[in-house]
Amino acid sequence: MTASIIDGKAIAQAIRDEIAGGAARLKAASGVVPGLAAVLVGDNPASHVYVRNKRQACDKAGMASWLHQMPGDIAQAELVALVRKLNADPLVHGILVQLPLPGHLDAAAVLDAIDPAKDVDGLHPDNLGLLADGRPRYLPCTPQGVWELGRRSGIDWSGKRVAILGRSSIVGKSLALVLLQKGVDATVTICHSKSKNIPGILRQAEIVVAALGQPRWVTADMIHPGAVVIDVGIHRLPDGSLCGDVAYDEVAKVAGAITPVPGGVGPMTIAMLLANTLRSAGGAP
Ligand code: GUN
Repeated sequence: MTASIIDGKAIAQAIRDEIAGGAARLKAASGVVPGLAAVLVGDNPASHVYVRNKRQACDKAGMASWLHQMPGDIAQAELVALVRKLNADPLVHGILVQLPLPGHLDAAAVLDAIDPAKDVDGLHPDNLGLLADGRPRYLPCTPQGVWELGRRSGIDWSGKRVAILGRSSIVGKSLALVLLQKGVDATVTICHSKSKNIPGILRQAEIVVAALGQPRWVTADMIHPGAVVIDVGIHRLPDGSLCGDVAYDEVAKVAGAITPVPGGVGPMTIAMLLANTLRSAGGAP
């Protein structure tokens, strides 16, 4: 079997076109231009690329964006003060604090300071709590992107055995909450570094989502023939090429469908950030 390739880039582009339409309608109807404030601390090269891509996507969708680039040794109080200033700015509908933050900063306290109504990244504890309670407001962008990617490529999550590798708040744990929502209805197992017999758990899954942060960790022998494999990881290899958490070439020979890296989940994360920002501004795709 050769897996069909789930084209996240094309699906994300279709969503971005819908969002651009929604932003144009909002502006025509009310004069409001959706605006995203991005906060970038320090000089993590990957974070610089991510934020640049997010801002370019805003621009292409007819949204405003502002970059607040702060020194790597910024004090916690100064960063929190910046977030509070953005909370109070009526032109800012969404606030994105790019993670990870330098080690001396308390990232949780910074996220706590974001107005939950402007938390378009979906990482504020109010928004995660609402999701856990089955009353979602803003979903974290990557889990939302995984769900939407599945929805738009014909994956039926309902009742399916889904194995998620990784338990981070930003992906694994919140994806489990998304997939457990009524109406999505997956049967979810989360595997993490202390889980026993992960290959055995993965082999029972009809859908595998890899978000453990280890290059090419998931191999073909761990995948039930015909299963759907969604790869959230992204790593730069010493030769400069990119790969995911899944050994793509061999897994593509046994899976029924697979997301590539790059061009799978990554573009969806950005599309969901735009969608949430448009919504925060009062628009709809
Ligand atoms: N770093 C890696 N992914 C993300 C994300 O989705 N949001 C933020 N804020 N930081 C990240």
